[in-house]
Amino acid sequence: MTIAALIVAAGRGTRAGTPGPKQYERIGGRSILARTLTTLGNTPRIDVLQVIIHPDDMAEYEAAIAETVGLTLLPPVMGGDTRALSVRSGLEALSGDAPDFVLIHDAARPFTPLATIDAVIDALLEGADGACPALPVVDALWTGSSTLDATRARDGLLRAQTPQGFPFPAIRAAHATRRQDAADDVAIARAAGLNVRATPGSEDNFKITTPADFERTERMLPPMDPRTGCGYDVHAFEPGTHVTLCGIDIPHTHSLKGHSDADVAMHTITDALFGAIGEGDIGQWFPPSDPLWKGAPSDTFLRKAVQRVAARGGRITHIDCTIICEQPKIGPHAPAMRARIAEICRLAEDRVSIKATTSERLGFTGREEGIAAIGTATVVLP
Ligand code: CTP
Ligand code: MG
Repeated sequence: MTIAALIVAAGRGTRAGTPGPKQYERIGGRSILARTLTTLGNTPRIDVLQVIIHPDDMAEYEAAIAETVGLTLLPPVMGGDTRALSVRSGLEALSGDAPDFVLIHDAARPFTPLATIDAVIDALLEGADGACPALPVVDALWTGSSTLDATRARDGLLRAQTPQGFPFPAIRAAHATRRQDAADDVAIARAAGLNVRATPGSEDNFKITTPADFERTERMLPPMDPRTGCGYDVHAFEPGTHVTLCGIDIPHTHSLKGHSDADVAMHTITDALFGAIGEGDIGQWFPPSDPLWKGAPSDTFLRKAVQRVAARGGRITHIDCTIICEQPKIGPHAPAMRARIAEICRLAEDRVSIKATTSERLGFTGREEGIAAIGTATVVLP
């Protein structure tokens, strides 16, 4: 038994007032589509995810996908001029390897609770022709515009949400023959004679439609996820004229030996950042065996780590680095080093700390055989 989710994301979002289609707008550092896909992708009972997009949005779609982790998605399918046409394209694309059930969901609903999705699936497994999360209307209903003219009974009125779920063959057949300007898939299913069961909806499962809905999203976002990463590195001395630390050349009786510019301090900061986001280390991203990185300035590595944090929708909030050596003296150069790291990490200088210590002449740093450094990075992820 397989359950597919079809996520319609081909609309233009004309009511949202955003510069581009609303589903690619970022809330709390992450696009709405990435959030919706993550919600459905984390639902254990859903086996397949199929997204329907607008042909103009390929680049935005790729960027949104890059913000998700560990999801398996079918290649995107191009939508149509109406929501119903977009759904129809998606159903046709799924029909090659047809699932038993399909949940059709608006990309613009990123906060769907698991219980809402589960209730739809439960109804389908119990044999319902279709299932739709719905909520009763609680406010009094009136017709009118600038004045309230006539009241309407609200008893028995329901607000329909998504995901709307159906046995796949039935909804595919219904979409293939029905009007293509229907408000939702329940309308199409009912026109084809299917009985759609109402399941419990949720106020959290609102559809982002107007600018005010974006303000509401701010109150919905889960707390940010603070991460701390740690880095450590050592480079040995060799004969030379200067060492490079945090991108600053410091005159010295020796240089540091290494495949790149051997900037031991910048390497530890880079590793701390990769550690904070759980994306390996500098050696995995830039293998020392690759001649491309011979003599490379280490800011190439640090910029990569900064870019990976951004791609995850994260924000660096603090960097701390301790350099361990007897010589050269770091203090006079620390302000320039701090400014350099702040610039590369796009941070205010008071969020960067560069300091040094000796090891009281003990060990390899005490014997002035090389320099060690320890770095700590704090990142908040959405
Ligand atoms: N949708 C779609 N194809 C269309 C129209 C809408 O895939 N031709 C999708 C939207 O991307 C959205 C969902 O259907 O995820 C619900 O539609 P709606 O909230 O109306 O979004 P938009 O049509 O994008 O917004 P608007 O009506 O304000 O232009
Ligand atoms: Mg619309």
